[in-house]
Amino acid sequence: MKFNHEIVEKNIGLLGIFTVLAISVGGLVQITPLLFQKDTTEPVDGLRPYTALELEGRDIYIREGCYNCHSQMIRPLRAETERYGHYSVAGESVWDHPFQWGSKRTGPDLARVGGRYSDKWHEVHLIDPRAVVPQSNMPGFPWLAENTLDGKYTQKKMTVLNNMHPGEYKGNNLYTQEELEGAQKAVEGKTEMQALIAYLQSLGHALK
Ligand code: HEC
Repeated sequence: MKFNHEIVEKNIGLLGIFTVLAISVGGLVQITPLLFQKDTTEPVDGLRPYTALELEGRDIYIREGCYNCHSQMIRPLRAETERYGHYSVAGESVWDHPFQWGSKRTGPDLARVGGRYSDKWHEVHLIDPRAVVPQSNMPGFPWLAENTLDGKYTQKKMTVLNNMHPGEYKGNNLYTQEELEGAQKAVEGKTEMQALIAYLQSLGHALK
């Protein structure tokens, strides 16, 4: 039997098997090294765990679906780095579950938005985006300023992160016993707006 392309191309079963094989091997070659490479699995030097309030803010970001319009991943292209700053690296989001990279950009990338605006600007913008950016089509989130946090699960969330990443923050767990015990107090009575803004202001701190 002559083994050439024609045989494979004319036999749908064979073609299927070889296609799956080629994609699997190619995929494994690309993906497997990433699971072991230091710079994709270890935190970058400047990374610190989210505070209790930032962590709650992150959950509100996810709940409100901000990721539907905002990515948090700056690509290594000149147009992007000039607009947003240093491109994103994996070591900045090793403690994010789930990470918020995304690719949908109805609005700008937020990976390094921390410190770009004042807390007050964010508050006005989140309540009514058009108050500060007249042409904006971002929806307002006025209820965030009225809802308050009870912090019932904050300590649990931090404990989960400790268990997932033992000893990863400069040789220690992400949160100390003291921080765990003070978690509820740190967020109780704060508004969802305060938590979300704390989270936004923390974005991009690890690598400027
Ligand atoms: C329907 C799409 C949409 C959703 C959902 C959305 N945004 Fe936006 N966002 C935009 C657009 C468009 C802009 C650019 C205009 C502006 O500044 O308002 C923007 C701008 C921003 C900016 C200013 C960024 C910069 O660099 O100037 C921040 C911060 C922001 N959004 C945060 C949020 C947060 C937090 C949420 C979730 C609570 C959210 N957005 C939900 C579309 C959206």
